[in-house]
Amino acid sequence: MEILLIGNGAREHAIAEAFKKNSRAALHSYLKSKNLGITSLSGSFEIGSYNDFELIKLFAQKSKPDFAFIGPEEPLKNGIVDLLGGMGVSSIGPSKSLARLETSKSFTRILLKKYKIEGNPKFRIFNDEDIGDAKGFIKELGQCVIKPDGLTGGKGVKVQGDHFKTGKDALEYCNEVLQAHPAVIIEEKLDGEEFSLQCLSDGKTVIAMPPVQDHKRAFADDKGSNTGGMGSYSCENHLLPFLTKKDVEEGLEITQKVADAVHKETGEFYKGVMYAGLIKTKEGINVVEYNARFGDPEAMNVLPLMEADFVEVCSAIINQNLNKIKIKFQKKATVCKYLVPDGYPDNPAKNEKITVGKIPGSAKLYYSSVEQKEDGLYTTNSRAIACLGISDNLEKAEKIAEEAAKSVKGRLFHREDIGTKKLIEKRIRHMKDVLN
Ligand code: GLY
Repeated sequence: MEILLIGNGAREHAIAEAFKKNSRAALHSYLKSKNLGITSLSGSFEIGSYNDFELIKLFAQKSKPDFAFIGPEEPLKNGIVDLLGGMGVSSIGPSKSLARLETSKSFTRILLKKYKIEGNPKFRIFNDEDIGDAKGFIKELGQCVIKPDGLTGGKGVKVQGDHFKTGKDALEYCNEVLQAHPAVIIEEKLDGEEFSLQCLSDGKTVIAMPPVQDHKRAFADDKGSNTGGMGSYSCENHLLPFLTKKDVEEGLEITQKVADAVHKETGEFYKGVMYAGLIKTKEGINVVEYNARFGDPEAMNVLPLMEADFVEVCSAIINQNLNKIKIKFQKKATVCKYLVPDGYPDNPAKNEKITVGKIPGSAKLYYSSVEQKEDGLYTTNSRAIACLGISDNLEKAEKIAEEAAKSVKGRLFHREDIGTKKLIEKRIRHMKDVLN
């Protein structure tokens, strides 16, 4: 099997590793910058921009893939799946139109409303022309969330109480968003615990992977700026400490309805990853957002646990027979901690040397935005290395991830609290308060 993998982060490193568990898989990687973790698993690779369709086309012609796997959102937004489809190459990843599930928050909110899918919070969409009317809606909501209508790498969403205080601040931020985006979405603020339910879809059948909880804030105890994700955990029972089996089933039901609605709306089948960003509230499971790809870091929590052959899973997605295969995951807990440059995300210490020391045998390291130079590894301006612990329970998995993170030296930091008992108990207490 010849597989074209697009992407160069830790998420794609985990995807490459999942493919390489199958000895027949030959990987050809197209990356924005060199990631040794991925290139060392690849038979061939090419470095280029996600906008360089000519180069991508040439590389695909040369590598003649049986299918392509698109890791990040940027090439999906650019229409890479349409490009490859035109060359007769099927992709795991949606077309440009279907990727709107992630690239246009307004598309998704309107879709859920039109098809009467549960879990949609109160929302309204404003543009340059009618933003003057937003004041009344902000007042009506009491507390709100502001979302740019476009990709922001997880850093554009602002929540009242966390990132701004008053209705006046909300309006100011809406106007700022409209300078860079065609529209802004104002939504009611939901109280609860968020989780990521990464699902595989062949357009007809949707399968959920174990739920994961990510940590967006830069510093311990959920302080600091929003980031792409500082780390994440999953539990050996394939639930989370504040989730029931019914909650996960509800999230999957919503996602299946979204896949059906997408097909009704566009006539196209969604073949790829539907990452449901969900929140458990007093009223039940609500949709925060959909992403059209695996989460980063969340991919690292689920892919290493997959017992099924990932090449076969992808073939089933393309051939639309996901309903015929059984995908099992090891009953293990995972904790992933990201090492990021000092000052990340606002003012990251770039071009600083990193030294990887002795890693515990059971830990896994996934390279993200690091540059390999002749004399070693260097930081760039984004997340550097993800450290993953897998074990029978969270406590052990956390210890492994923490030990691995501590053995990497350089101008880096990580969140020591991710996966710890103290933080998990805080989440459970918060959920109890919300439900009472
Ligand atoms: N961890 C958040 C994301 O991948 O969007």
